Amino acid sequence: MKIIVVDNYNEMSKKAANIIASCIVLKPNSVLGLATGSTPLGVYKELIKLYENSDVDFSNVCTFNLDEYYGITKDNDQSYSYYMKENFFKHVNLKEENTHIPDGTCKNVDTMCQSYEDIIKQHGGIDVQILGIGQNGHIGFNEPDDKFVADTHLVKLKEDTVNANSRFFETIEDVPKEAVSMGIKAIMKAKKIILIANGINKAEAIYKTIKEDVTPEVPASILQFHSDVTVIVDKEAASKL
Ligand code: F6R
Repeated sequence: MKIIVVDNYNEMSKKAANIIASCIVLKPNSVLGLATGSTPLGVYKELIKLYENSDVDFSNVCTFNLDEYYGITKDNDQSYSYYMKENFFKHVNLKEENTHIPDGTCKNVDTMCQSYEDIIKQHGGIDVQILGIGQNGHIGFNEPDDKFVADTHLVKLKEDTVNANSRFFETIEDVPKEAVSMGIKAIMKAKKIILIANGINKAEAIYKTIKEDVTPEVPASILQFHSDVTVIVDKEAASKL
């Protein structure tokens, strides 16, 4: 793992965006794996700036998001589809048909999960995967467990994840309790992975991910087995390293 400690959130975002942009410059039809949440918002802002300055062109880029809440529609302003459209897709020249997000309303979830993985495969796999990390060490919505879940699947969110996500909802009852998430295998198959984290509330998870044993109790720790992971963290998230 390559660990880059930066001063603050803006630097973290710029560094991650620059790595992604350089991948796209080298391979204009790059396949990006994308995350949502608070952490990557700055990365999307930086990528939009790079696009506006004509430094990067998304016209042949294809994207796959890690996860989506289960049981809410695409146009719900809490869905990850909505988040991606508002915070990234509508600001750059990505073609809509090249953006993929698990369907959070699909009745036959198993079939949808399988076909999501098939489509990633048809595109040649993910070139660069951006990851945030939960305070409990989750990546995507692969929650702490007694085993790693390999395949894209329906997840019951842990209470601490529901609580952490409740900041975006009016009441805790409104927070979806299930999500569809790319599994550990699909994440680990990405050719390159960038894990970003900022703030003191991520310090423990970052420490366990990097310094302790690989365990499904800390899903992100599996990244120690990947050959090309760059961890970009601000000073606070790095404070226990
Ligand atoms: C969301 C995702 C999650 C988040 C994690 C951190 O697509 O993959 O694993 O990255 O929950 O969320 P924030 O960035 O809001 O702290």
